[in-house]
Amino acid sequence: MFRSSWYLFLLSINLLQAQSFIIKSNPSKETSLQANMGLDMKTIQYNENKSGEDFTSVMQMSNQPIPKAKPGIAVVKVMAAASNPIDFKVMGGFLTGAGWSMPFPFVVGYDFSGVIYDISSEDAEAFPKDTNVFGVQWGQGKHDEEDQPVGGAFAEYIAVPVSRLSVKPDAISHELAAASALVGTTAHQIVNQCANVQKDEKVLILGGATSVGMIAVQLALQNGAKVWTTASPRNKEFVESLGDVNIINYRQDKWWEMDDVQNIDAVIDTTGEEGGWEHAQKVLKADGSFVSIAAFDVGFDPSGHAPKKYAAFHCLANDPVVQNEIAQALANGKLKIPLVEPFYSFTEQDAKDMLAAQAKGAHTGKLVMSISN
Ligand SMILES: NC(=O)c1ccc[n+]([C@@H]2O[C@H](COP(=O)([O-])OP(=O)(O)OC[C@H]3O[C@@H](n4cnc5c(N)ncnc54)[C@H](OP(=O)(O)O)[C@@H]3O)[C@@H](O)[C@H]2O)c1
Repeated sequence: MFRSSWYLFLLSINLLQAQSFIIKSNPSKETSLQANMGLDMKTIQYNENKSGEDFTSVMQMSNQPIPKAKPGIAVVKVMAAASNPIDFKVMGGFLTGAGWSMPFPFVVGYDFSGVIYDISSEDAEAFPKDTNVFGVQWGQGKHDEEDQPVGGAFAEYIAVPVSRLSVKPDAISHELAAASALVGTTAHQIVNQCANVQKDEKVLILGGATSVGMIAVQLALQNGAKVWTTASPRNKEFVESLGDVNIINYRQDKWWEMDDVQNIDAVIDTTGEEGGWEHAQKVLKADGSFVSIAAFDVGFDPSGHAPKKYAAFHCLANDPVVQNEIAQALANGKLKIPLVEPFYSFTEQDAKDMLAAQAKGAHTGKLVMSISN
């Protein structure tokens, strides 16, 4: 699904340039997160990069010391974690190829939801012990930043900078909170910041059934836009359930040749489909916007294609304020993100099956793992 290794290599380049993405799990630096009273936790981790058919073969259930909180870093008992395409892309080693070191073992996963287990006295006022929290453990700043943990959601405990935490509303489950964080913040940023979708604008979203795309469709509709989106026939009914959208069967129709897909204010690409940027220029207004999260043909400079208002690849910078907004919308029923059930359980085999399903891409909605009860 999606694009080739070429794309993955470019992804790594972009992430390097954006400097908003850290991949790090350096045992030598884990001394700064010291073992928590000598207790061990279970993790799903790998010790080498692997791509191809059997990429999950390197994943294994292992033991590591439970990290210890310190000022600015909380330890969360993980209740649920979600997977994303980035998990198998990172596992494939494409970030390493772009010069980002990636010491092993690397614990899988960025999206988590859980309970504050250990917190410094400085941070306890904002996040008292036992508070339900969620977020994305992407990392930020430079790579190999001292004492900044990254990844690690497929584990019984995760060390997270408190600056990345949101309080989970009681009305949503840990599974839904974990599922919402990465894709919710991405969709919010591409719709409301990059493309800046306004009332009555015409918007084309490539991939109305991808996890990011389905949220982008809902947010664009909420902004009062008129929305076109691409989906396969198997996802048509689901995408119709998102609201009043014009659905294009991307397996059959060329959206850039359709009479009603003209004078578009924004094209939002969540699929990396071949020729997306080239085709978008045929349907966009002169001052329209193009944003992709899966292809790099447009480059990285949002003002590099004037008079387009925005035309670039977007890289996620996760924001707890946006996480809160997305979670509140889920809690009050203004947004929906389907979860694929039954949930995966916290076993080595289920973790492998989950990542294999994520790479296969035949699902609709988020793949989640229940970790603790
Ligand atoms: N900030 C970032 O840069 C960022 C953040 C999140 C995700 N991403 C990227 O965005 C992409 C989407 O991620 P996701 O988690 O939203 O995906 P996802 O939920 O795993 O997407 C799965 C869905 O995509 C549909 N699909 C596949 N190819 C399609 C195409 N060409 N056109 C329309 N639908 C298509 C599949 O259905 P059918 O096969 O039946 O069509 C399936 O239902 C990935 O490449 C991911 O790496 C980037």
